[in-house]
Amino acid sequence: MKPKIRTVILAGGIGSRFKTKKNKLNHRLLGKTILSYVIDVAETISDEVYTVLGAANKGPILEIQKDLNYLVQHKPLGTGHALSVFFEHCRNECSENDLVLVLLGDVPLITSNTLKSFITHSLENEISVSFISTIINDPKGYGRVIRDKNNLLAGIKEDKLLSLSEVNIQEINTGIFLFKVGFLSKYLDKIRPHTEAKDELFITDLVEIAIAGKEPADCHICKNNIEFMGINTLEDLYKARSIIRGNINRKHMLNGVEIIDTNSVFIDINIEIKPDTVIYPNNILKGNTSIGNNVRIGPNNYLENAVIKDNAEIIGNNYIKDTEIGPSSCIGPFAHLRGNNKISEKCRIGNFVEIKKSEIEEGSKASHLSYIGDAVIGRGVNIGAGVITCNYDGITKHTTTIHDNAFIGSDSQLIAPVTIGESSYIASGSTIVADVPAYSLSIARSRQVFKKDWVKDRNK
Ligand code: UD1
Ligand code: CA
Repeated sequence: MKPKIRTVILAGGIGSRFKTKKNKLNHRLLGKTILSYVIDVAETISDEVYTVLGAANKGPILEIQKDLNYLVQHKPLGTGHALSVFFEHCRNECSENDLVLVLLGDVPLITSNTLKSFITHSLENEISVSFISTIINDPKGYGRVIRDKNNLLAGIKEDKLLSLSEVNIQEINTGIFLFKVGFLSKYLDKIRPHTEAKDELFITDLVEIAIAGKEPADCHICKNNIEFMGINTLEDLYKARSIIRGNINRKHMLNGVEIIDTNSVFIDINIEIKPDTVIYPNNILKGNTSIGNNVRIGPNNYLENAVIKDNAEIIGNNYIKDTEIGPSSCIGPFAHLRGNNKISEKCRIGNFVEIKKSEIEEGSKASHLSYIGDAVIGRGVNIGAGVITCNYDGITKHTTTIHDNAFIGSDSQLIAPVTIGESSYIASGSTIVADVPAYSLSIARSRQVFKKDWVKDRNK
């Protein structure tokens, strides 16, 4: 019978080197938390996945990972102890030949291809304990692989316990292990606490224990060391983000998206962008954003949950959140669109226009300096410079409805709730408090008076 692969993700540590109140594993890398990268990879290769959480991080992690299959390590007594929390829970369901794959919650760049070849190699060679090692230039902070004078595996030693002659060893333990269940049943409780390290139980000691017990132990050396980067500080998070960002941008470029400066473009991992789109420098694309064909995204935009349809142009310096922009529409520069807007095709939203919770139909324009909130605007409407929908009376929000082809003169205020009829005209500077009939002209401002020779008289 094919052995089952049960994966345990160790995530019960405190993450003290992050120095942030926010839990380390909840920090995001281009739209996904550190931990969810590991969970997603684990799910592609395992029959069952468990995550070991700590008493301290259980609450915040479950707020994000709502359906997580988890166990709790009540005290952070080390990686070996976290493994035993998992093993005690599932040992009765396992057969001796099943496998336990250990991943670390803070090693998110690992890929399923690497794990597959690691598992295949261990299975073919009938190994009881194996782990992945890799060679890195700056091994500080990682456990090192210790070899005897014949270069055979002798054990793993943690960074803080290394002797002077060992600190330069560049082969590190990646923290990824594979155990046969039979081995864990026999040896897991043989790990002894490290008095010099707060009495922690180290999973890494199982290698030496296996060698002493003449169990087949192996170290699988992998070349692509970037995959094994552990995220222990905010600087590591920054480095991992640069790597993921590069991969995401590369994928889009190979799909026909032109990115002018990949160093300043941050695209969340699940965003779809169609070919012939061009993205200029300094752009952040987040969440459930999607971008159509031949869209031009000028410099300095923040887009979150923004759906931008084909041939649209986002000129530059815009903040666009929870908003759909229709085909061939043109936005900005300096537009602020937020809170559920639907802007149809061939619309023009110009500089210093704020739009909130509004629908704007085909071909309508608000080219300069407006606030449009809680509005339903038809086709071919012209909103002049400085127009404001006064949607809030201090207690509730009210709707402004503007029908097709209406013309709202500059610097008018539309005091909601109010409806502006089809093809009607509002004269500039009007304060509109009552519904306006279709095809009419409304002037709601005081009449201009001339005081002849007033200046001359004043100067007498
Ligand atoms: C660990 C390894 C080290 C390896 C490195 C790779 C040990 C003793 N050391 O060191 O050899 O080079 O990872 O990145 O295993 N955790 C728990 N419970 C605990 C302690 C930790 O679940 O009591 C979890 C943490 O949440 C983390 C992972 O185990 O996700 C690794 O712990 P961490 O403290 O980061 O170990 P490192 O010092 O990085
Ligand atoms: Ca770590």
